Amino acid sequence: MKAEIPDWAKTRVMPHVLSIPVYVPGKPVAEVEREFGISDAIKLASNENPLGPSPLAMDTISKTIAMAHIYPESTSPELRKSLAKRYDVEVNQIVLGNGSDEIMQMLAHVFLGTEDEVIMPEMSFSMYKIVTRLFGGKSVMVPLKEYHADLKAMGASITPKTRILFLSNPHSPTGTIFNRADFEELLDTTRKRGIIFVLDEAYREYVEAPDCPSGIDYVDRSEHLIFLRTFSKIYGLAGLRVGYGIAQPWLIELLNRVRLPFNVNLLAQEAASAALMDEDHITRSCKVNLQGKEFLMQSLTNLDFDPIPTESNFIAFRPDCDAEKLYLGLLREGIIVRHLKSFGLPSHIRVTIGLEEQNVKFMAALKKVANELAHAGS
Ligand SMILES: Cc1ncc(COP(=O)(O)O)c(C=O)c1O
Repeated sequence: MKAEIPDWAKTRVMPHVLSIPVYVPGKPVAEVEREFGISDAIKLASNENPLGPSPLAMDTISKTIAMAHIYPESTSPELRKSLAKRYDVEVNQIVLGNGSDEIMQMLAHVFLGTEDEVIMPEMSFSMYKIVTRLFGGKSVMVPLKEYHADLKAMGASITPKTRILFLSNPHSPTGTIFNRADFEELLDTTRKRGIIFVLDEAYREYVEAPDCPSGIDYVDRSEHLIFLRTFSKIYGLAGLRVGYGIAQPWLIELLNRVRLPFNVNLLAQEAASAALMDEDHITRSCKVNLQGKEFLMQSLTNLDFDPIPTESNFIAFRPDCDAEKLYLGLLREGIIVRHLKSFGLPSHIRVTIGLEEQNVKFMAALKKVANELAHAGS
């Protein structure tokens, strides 16, 4: 059956909802294998941890599954307690979401009305735009400057209608970061203008640069700041959907008013608590990422594919051929990456840094497809 909205219903749907694009995720492995009749496809498209979940988390899940007929505790108290201890904050400074995506939606729910403005970098995580539209808000897109978020220009874009500012560090999809001085200036400007500053630190655990600011160092003195982190990336639990936000208690209290009960399921709560304790897994994940980063940066540079220096677990690059054709050619080879057209970078591809053998396989396929395209004149 077609999903076309009947004419009578169009007049009932909130007008801003009609214009919301459906989020397009990285293609799942099973879909690509079905589509191309192949097996052993590799997904390097959504910046997941190639080592998988922490063994401690897997063990906890198998022990907890027997309790799956009982509702979980709605406020996830144990996980919030562990996070509070980790960050040395109060438990009432933490909110959990079904992924950090859900917390972005809660923020928009609390603070956004029709025609209110939300500032974000032009080429950034698409959920910022989607949650803005969900509540009838208007996205104010600030162009990147040499692949970096332009914090000064973001500050200059504030108007009396601005309610929220979204900013990721490291930035997705480019992997770049900003420094403390620029961040502090924007934090100050937004504080003076009463704007909620959402600092998205989904990839913060991968950063090596010493001058990269961290939300936790600012939250106690910044009433308007919330920083978001996730168990989907370095903690390897993307399939379970757990993210968290840390802010001052008044802000968390408001988010809890719009949070649906039981938004983080039982297995997710337990697995995230276990994963948080598994320091070894995090250390290994960083090490694998670092080795993969060196290999891929070098290999992409050798091909003159302009990889953008990254502080994260992915690399965006500009091939010397048609990026969309390259992306499709890689799919046929069983390598799933991300064409960055939907982010506003149609000449770029983003690849998640994988395990050594995955990186090698990716580079071999990349060379093969790029060569074929060169011969075909694309
Ligand atoms: C910059 C950024 N923020 C947030 C998220 C969402 O994370 P979660 O899985 O916690 O919803 C992603 C996911 O890809 C991301 O790239």
